[in-house]
Amino acid sequence: MAPKLILTGFMATGKSTVARHLARRLGWRLLDCDAEISARAGKPIHQIFRDSGEAHFRAMERSVIAEMSSGGRRCARCGHPRPAVIATGGGAIVDPKNYAALRDSGVIICLSARPDVIARRISAGVKARPMLAHGGMPVKQRIAELMEERHEAYARAAITIDTSERTVDQVVDAILDALADAYPTIVQALPSTAHNPHGPRK
Ligand code: S3P
Repeated sequence: MAPKLILTGFMATGKSTVARHLARRLGWRLLDCDAEISARAGKPIHQIFRDSGEAHFRAMERSVIAEMSSGGRRCARCGHPRPAVIATGGGAIVDPKNYAALRDSGVIICLSARPDVIARRISAGVKARPMLAHGGMPVKQRIAELMEERHEAYARAAITIDTSERTVDQVVDAILDALADAYPTIVQALPSTAHNPHGPRK
């Protein structure tokens, strides 16, 4: 199995930012599911929802997740499957097929945050969060509702890191520490071996 680290978790828990930093720290490839969907559609996610609806977005999400979680190409320099950090959108893992594909491709890491922290982080950009605009429901109430609905899906992650009071670097450190404890073979495949011939960036 190509080692993949998959970031899931509720909106505004820091998935894309942490994935970028984690990938840079490891020298691994970064795959961002929402960025890929947006590039394919030629518009931001909230416009896909507005123009074509959630079902269309979820279909695109399923096909991007299927591609990203499949084996993929081998590294031209070392011949090993290329490791990657995958950032998924907050609802991706709720779909059983997405979950199974992601679980089979690597280690699923859930980023969490307290509801009040999430509400604060999204306060400037609620319009870009179609899942929170729900029948005029107050945002805090909608966050609580959606968190409750998704609780079990997020609980399937192998590792959960609370980002409420951590900086991005602290979250990356916490992920690497948790991996070293629970998945030493993945961590052994980090910077010093042929899985990462290009070396980590500082
Ligand atoms: C969604 C989360 C969003 C994006 C889409 C749906 C969700 O991604 O995929 O708006 O269902 O929670 P982020 O979690 O990166 O905001």
